[in-house]
Amino acid sequence: MKRIQIYSLMFWAVILCSCGAKEQDVRVVKDFNFNWNFKLGSHPEAVKEDFDSSDWRALNLPHDWSIEGTFSKDHPTKPEGGALPAGEGWYRKSFELPEGIKGKSIAIEFDGVYRNSEVWINGHFLGKRPYGYISFMYDLTPYLHYGTQKNTITVKVDNSLQPNSRWYTGSGIYRNVRLVVTDKLHVAHWGTYATTPEISKGLGTVNYELTLQNDHNQDKSVKLVTSIKSEQNEEVAKVISNENIKANDFFVLNQDLEVKIPVLWDIENPYLYTIQTKVYEDGRLIDNYETPLGFRYFNFDAEKGFSLNGVPTKIHGVCLHHDNGALGAVANNDAIKRKLTLMKEMGANAIRVSHNPSSVELLDLCDEMGFIVQVEAFDTWKKKKAKQDYHLDWDEWHQKDLEDFVLRDRNHPSVMMWSIGNEIREQFDSTGVAITKELVSIVKKLDKTRPVTSALTENVPEKNYIYQSGALDLLGFNYKHKDYTGFPEKFKGQKIIASESVSALETRGHYDHFDADEIKRWPPAHNEPFDGNDDFTVSAYDQVSAYWGATHEESWKAVKALDYIAGTFIWTGFDYLGEPIPYPYPARSSYFGILDLAGLPKDVYYMYQSEWSDQDVLHILPHWNWTKNQEIDVWAYYNNADEVELFLNGKSLGKKSKKDDDLHVSWEVKYEPGTLKAVSKKEGKVVLEKEIHTAGKAAQINLTADKKEIRNNQYDLTYITVDVVDEKGVLVPNANHLIEFEISGGGEIVGVDNGYQANLSSFKASEIKAYNGKCIVIVQSNGKKENIVLKATSQDAIASNSIEIKVIN
Ligand code: GAL
Repeated sequence: MKRIQIYSLMFWAVILCSCGAKEQDVRVVKDFNFNWNFKLGSHPEAVKEDFDSSDWRALNLPHDWSIEGTFSKDHPTKPEGGALPAGEGWYRKSFELPEGIKGKSIAIEFDGVYRNSEVWINGHFLGKRPYGYISFMYDLTPYLHYGTQKNTITVKVDNSLQPNSRWYTGSGIYRNVRLVVTDKLHVAHWGTYATTPEISKGLGTVNYELTLQNDHNQDKSVKLVTSIKSEQNEEVAKVISNENIKANDFFVLNQDLEVKIPVLWDIENPYLYTIQTKVYEDGRLIDNYETPLGFRYFNFDAEKGFSLNGVPTKIHGVCLHHDNGALGAVANNDAIKRKLTLMKEMGANAIRVSHNPSSVELLDLCDEMGFIVQVEAFDTWKKKKAKQDYHLDWDEWHQKDLEDFVLRDRNHPSVMMWSIGNEIREQFDSTGVAITKELVSIVKKLDKTRPVTSALTENVPEKNYIYQSGALDLLGFNYKHKDYTGFPEKFKGQKIIASESVSALETRGHYDHFDADEIKRWPPAHNEPFDGNDDFTVSAYDQVSAYWGATHEESWKAVKALDYIAGTFIWTGFDYLGEPIPYPYPARSSYFGILDLAGLPKDVYYMYQSEWSDQDVLHILPHWNWTKNQEIDVWAYYNNADEVELFLNGKSLGKKSKKDDDLHVSWEVKYEPGTLKAVSKKEGKVVLEKEIHTAGKAAQINLTADKKEIRNNQYDLTYITVDVVDEKGVLVPNANHLIEFEISGGGEIVGVDNGYQANLSSFKASEIKAYNGKCIVIVQSNGKKENIVLKATSQDAIASNSIEIKVIN
């Protein structure tokens, strides 16, 4: 508490002095996430200015109340929605503004509130935004108090109408909130737009559209200085102009700049320039605004697929929902960065944000880390998929939401496709034609530099009305990989991407022994019953998919073989909450991920790594704890080698090589305990060796942190993986010990998970059972600058362990 007050004092001191106008002070973007009060239920009286909410729960944003709840099949969100509670909740925050700040413009920005948010400042209603994924702002200036009189923001969040989604949404102010303080004459909200009309080795041209907002009652004369800075902060281009801005009006200006020998933005070297605009009035700096800039060009070709900066590049993509596993919908930079890092290490070069506007952090990170991004506006238009979903808001809101989606995201070099919808029902009827045309024209008015696409399922051209509109630049097709070969004939001259593929099903570390070549569809066909496993697991051999999908290998082989398919987006990079196909409750999260909900890789992660990355890969599965003489299929994923030889307890079981389009090799092995060793060789030279051992009794807990050091900023996270191992340190593959955590120092536990799709224990507890030998605990800095010690114990006669995390400023 004290720390935050000190911070606030410093903050306002800076604003008050800003007439001296230091560059960093003229536009103050204040983190507004701290010190809110929250209460579940309906509290209409809380809109009143003098309402006392001091007995409400104190918390910091971003916050998702659903993830704090307990699972039940009776929650109206249903298991498809994650089987967690939704309902209504209210947030309040009080703050003071010093007298000296009078005359500034003050706005509040919300990155996302799920859903139906309504906002009041000091009893004045500011507005409503139904769509739970859209970013929005309100101007607070006319209603504020200065001096000792407090201001209060009240936010009502109503997620009670259910079901409103086909997956877990979360509930609350689950993304960041900022207060933005500027001069009354300032760069407008989302008020810059940079494009790069020409890029060659020697020259990059930049067209920069700048919108200024003048809230003064007088006309103003300003000098505008726009410069482009390199990553090393060198000025590489500059343009100056003097303009008159009318009172209470907006002013739009176009500036052209040139950068000599631009460094290109690409996947390996995502080089970012910054456009900086400084606004001066009478020689005084009054605004300073920055926009990221990347020089990159790309092309979709109907025959050759995708190229980036002239280099043919297959899109190796994954679809990602917005939830961050045990954290729920909370948009945390570290959680998102961990997901993207795991994808990058796998060799993915693209993300499809399914099926809604993303967090700001995801796109900033994709710019910085080098991903090709397809952003997506909607999962429904006028026709519903869930009873209470966005179709209810369509008529009133779709235009504004789509505009805001493009306005916010059009400066991200990583964003290369606008998707106007996923598997939209209107593709099947003629109303789809007009709506598609309307949506495409909304997007094109705001950005013509990226293709507009939609993820379609109907691939009979005459029956697909979204396609029939003729308005799409790029056709996305979901699933049906066997039809790809017919596309050039059916969709002559069209550019095509596999916007969604696979939908294979797996549980990390669980193996069913089907016949080697057997492939299962679970459920077998529409509404047909199937015999699954009693414990709600699905085998992690890549042999099971939803009936509309394919195994990972089936799908990737089809995409890989065809140049005209620009690439693929796997459904999905990670398991996500909700949509627990093929099982009923207690299954409550999906089986589709290449990694589980906790972010622990399933075996197929290494198939992609062997295909999509340059690094040497050799991975064998399953684990090596079976019944003597049991027939076990051993699979190996490998690359950069001609063959793999397998040894059991030193005895060779033979060499295998991938033939034709094989993506793995396998051996049928009669199990005996001991050591299974694989050796990959290229031209007779060893590339990699990999051993797995039969584990003995669980004896210890191993703790591995993805970060050994975090900052005391109350945001940073470290993910600690718990392995239950035997005396020799071998993972015990079916260990399910209850692990209890104790934490001290500058951190707190914000989530636990074991990736098991039917686990019903709380994500917010300080204990969890290991699942197939593993679980994770997520630790967040709590503001204290004290090293963190996390201790993990189990009562099941295994030794406890602890890990220390350094906390820095
Ligand atoms: C697709 C849909 C996704 C997800 C997936 C599951 O048809 O676009 O959102 O539901 O199926 O297989």
